[in-house]
Amino acid sequence: MSYEARPLTGVMGSEVFGLDLASLDGDELVDVRRLMCESEVVVFRDQSLSPRTQSEFSERLGPSGEVPFVETMNDFPQVIRVVKEADEGAAFNFGGAWHSDFSFQVEPPSFTVLAAVDVPVWGGDTVFASMTAAWAALGPQMRERLSSLDAVHTARDAYSRRMQPLHSGMRGMSIVCDDSANDERVHPLVTVHPETGKEVLFFNRAYVRDLVGVDVEETPELLDFLHHHTTDVRFQYRHRWRAGDVVIWDNRSTQHFAINDYAGFRRELHRTTVRGTTPSR
Ligand code: SIN
Repeated sequence: MSYEARPLTGVMGSEVFGLDLASLDGDELVDVRRLMCESEVVVFRDQSLSPRTQSEFSERLGPSGEVPFVETMNDFPQVIRVVKEADEGAAFNFGGAWHSDFSFQVEPPSFTVLAAVDVPVWGGDTVFASMTAAWAALGPQMRERLSSLDAVHTARDAYSRRMQPLHSGMRGMSIVCDDSANDERVHPLVTVHPETGKEVLFFNRAYVRDLVGVDVEETPELLDFLHHHTTDVRFQYRHRWRAGDVVIWDNRSTQHFAINDYAGFRRELHRTTVRGTTPSR
């Protein structure tokens, strides 16, 4: 290998130097995909992807996923501009709650590619949590209990019509809430990653709003437990963005959270998602 990959933490994340994502050969693509599945978050430094080359690279990982609710670039319908202007102040930021991308879809994304275009002088970090590590840290009794449960995923509390005012404060992005956000999709709570074969706690509080197989009175407590456990600091990597960074995460085994602490600075990143498969146990 002509490039270097270094672990970022003991649980997740790798940093890659010396690779140009816009011109990977076939062997490098296979290596990079394996690294993304194993490390769950991979940081590529010193890239210069345009919307076109980002779309092309993303397509090499698999067909683009459907992008609901968020307006994409006119010329590049796979690309979302994740942008907050310097003067937007306290506006809600896109991705500012623990989630995995579009987990409410039948086939949620396998990978998300996020390329830095304009980064704040400070703040605006993205925090990732490993759902493989969160699962592995549970004791046998809890694992047995969770293994048979299903989770109800819905975008209701993010993108239904009543949520429109939350998004309307954002000038740089156009988010259109609609009734399809009320749809529900049931996925197993514990899934097997289709490429690594590892078990994963496929949970995120933004879109998992109910559990199947749990008494109604117990559900809020179990949801709270799952949220606090899966986002524990032991399972995290926090990414400090630099110009030229491209970060790719495995959306099947991680959650993430975009920190909104950079009022007064502009932040723009370009995001593409790769369609995954239906999660299974
Ligand atoms: C996202 O949730 O996809 C956006 C993450 C970020 O802006 O850091």
